[in-house]
Amino acid sequence: MKGVILAGGKATRLYPLTLVTNKHLLPVYNKPVIYYAIDKLVSAGVDRIMIVTSPHHVNDFVNLLGSGHDFRSKNNGKQIQIVYGIQDKPSGIADGLYIAKDYIGDENCILYLGDNILEDDISTQVKNFKDGSVIFLKKVKDPERFGVATLDKKGSVLNIEEKPKKPKSDLAVVGIYMYDNTVFKKMIGQPVSKRGEYEITYINNMYIKDRKLKGVPLKKDWFDIGTFESLIEASNYMKKKHGKNKS
Ligand code: G1P
Repeated sequence: MKGVILAGGKATRLYPLTLVTNKHLLPVYNKPVIYYAIDKLVSAGVDRIMIVTSPHHVNDFVNLLGSGHDFRSKNNGKQIQIVYGIQDKPSGIADGLYIAKDYIGDENCILYLGDNILEDDISTQVKNFKDGSVIFLKKVKDPERFGVATLDKKGSVLNIEEKPKKPKSDLAVVGIYMYDNTVFKKMIGQPVSKRGEYEITYINNMYIKDRKLKGVPLKKDWFDIGTFESLIEASNYMKKKHGKNKS
């Protein structure tokens, strides 16, 4: 399975930190944000990754990560492969994934929003994934900030609403999604949303219609880096949990 990390966006909520750089290059404790995403995919056995970012920042990512020399495959100990895709305009998550279509070829893929940091190990889900789609869910206090899932009594996902004003549950959709190769067909004729983006929530609802979307609850901590508070919170957490001199 190939991975696609989306690392674009203007991150205006982090101005002036992101006036001349990209959010995914900012530090969380001792590593840039994007390292957490790559580490998570690599530790789940994903060895080939496309990073999709804006034309303004792609050189910075190339300078930092090159072809992937800092990361070793869990499968064979060799260097992983990192390649780059360019998203000219921030036109949404589904649009970002579409840029990786030819790179993915006829394989399955895991889409990872590069500002998500999670503690759960997802290697079993990655290893066992065959078809349809698998998403991850996390109980939160502020669901209106996220995609929100409603489940039936058996735990199957019934519906996802993007940033609803009145959320029907407290289950946020985490920014990590596994898709079979039908994902690209599902994007044909996709309408743009009210905010002018190709929403990933539209694609996920298509999988729900086909009864092919599974929601996996996360047990451990999850951070969505987008504000000053989340940056400092994640940094303090990582220092405490994984730092050499734990305080
Ligand atoms: C995106 C998705 C949303 C998801 C969130 C997780 O929102 O659209 O469904 O819950 O990522 O990080 P964004 O952060 O792009 O506003």
